[in-house]
Amino acid sequence: MIPYGRHSINDADVEAVVNALKSDWLTTGPLVEEFEAALEKIVGAPCVSVSSGTAALHCAYAAIDLKPGDEVITPPITFIATQATAALFGAKIVFADVQPDTANIDPAAVEDAITPRTKAIVAVDYAGHPADLDELRAICDRHRIFLIEDAAHSIGSTYKGRPVGSIADLTTFSFFPTKNLTTAEGGAVASIHPELLEKAKRFSRQGLVRDSDEFKITNQGAWHQEVHEFGLNYRLPDVLCALGISQLKRLENFKVQRSEVFKSYGKVFSDISDLELPTIRGYVDPMWHLFPIRVPADRRRVVFEKLREDGFLVQVNYLPANWHPVFVSRGYKASDTPQAGRFYSREISLPMMVNPEILSPHFFERISDTFKLAMKLSI
Ligand SMILES: Cc1ncc(COP(=O)(O)O)c(C=O)c1O
Repeated sequence: MIPYGRHSINDADVEAVVNALKSDWLTTGPLVEEFEAALEKIVGAPCVSVSSGTAALHCAYAAIDLKPGDEVITPPITFIATQATAALFGAKIVFADVQPDTANIDPAAVEDAITPRTKAIVAVDYAGHPADLDELRAICDRHRIFLIEDAAHSIGSTYKGRPVGSIADLTTFSFFPTKNLTTAEGGAVASIHPELLEKAKRFSRQGLVRDSDEFKITNQGAWHQEVHEFGLNYRLPDVLCALGISQLKRLENFKVQRSEVFKSYGKVFSDISDLELPTIRGYVDPMWHLFPIRVPADRRRVVFEKLREDGFLVQVNYLPANWHPVFVSRGYKASDTPQAGRFYSREISLPMMVNPEILSPHFFERISDTFKLAMKLSI
């Protein structure tokens, strides 16, 4: 059985974790800062590590003071965490449709969705392919609103030569095992604005204020810490930062291997009609988290099931977020975002990872043979 995504853990990763377990620290120790500094080198902006990609989004929305009545424009082709964490602040979620090929938020649709209450645009780098960040940035600057990039899929990708993480006001990452690198559960927030990053960090650490210059209660001893705004515990422990540090050293190699997988699929699937492979814009260099293909909607189910039957644990990413009952029950309509619906109805995510079993030429032949057979069966 070959899953659609899987972590790669080597001996160095194991050793790093074991060493952390034997150290004086399990939770917040020296490896947290070391991991954050290593992340900054890759993503091009200072970072705060947190316990998941969902936590990272929650912290990013806290950093912009998201409040009831604010509107946040998001794409439907994403994992629901993009919206859930904003909705929990009482914000109104607005959906802008996606581009038909990349499934990333369409800047033209964003422009139409702006109102005086819009507080932020959230771009999701679907499958690892960066969204049209310059166009989105221009809209944000014109309307004086924030650009948040949900880069759960795209650590290691670049946009016009710039690393994902160095462009949006706030960028969020996930280190779940299927992602481009893993800390088991984990995530991070990056920001090009120190004050926004500090707010995200404080929210992730119970809202605790420890700097005496900021204290509102004075004349206390060295034990003192106080809270000005509520926060939560979203800390990533030292043990998992140890894994992250080790995985970051492998990231460049992971990117090369993922792009080899991408090319191998391109070769074996090149001569199949009724199949669309992922698009790459000329100005991005993605680190591929998923390999999303598109087949005719009326054949997707059969093809999906045949692939699964033969041991390829393919996936569909994603049911458009505005189709979830939680949105439908609040009056949202699937018909508002037809491109997202069309993309969803045709998509299948093929296995994408760096593990040796998938990288063998034999794997690509096998999956393309099964796929071709499935396409015939589905007619
Ligand atoms: C686009 C996107 N955003 C956010 C998340 C949430 O990340 P996590 O699972 O680390 O909480 C995911 C996870 O699948 C995701 O794909």
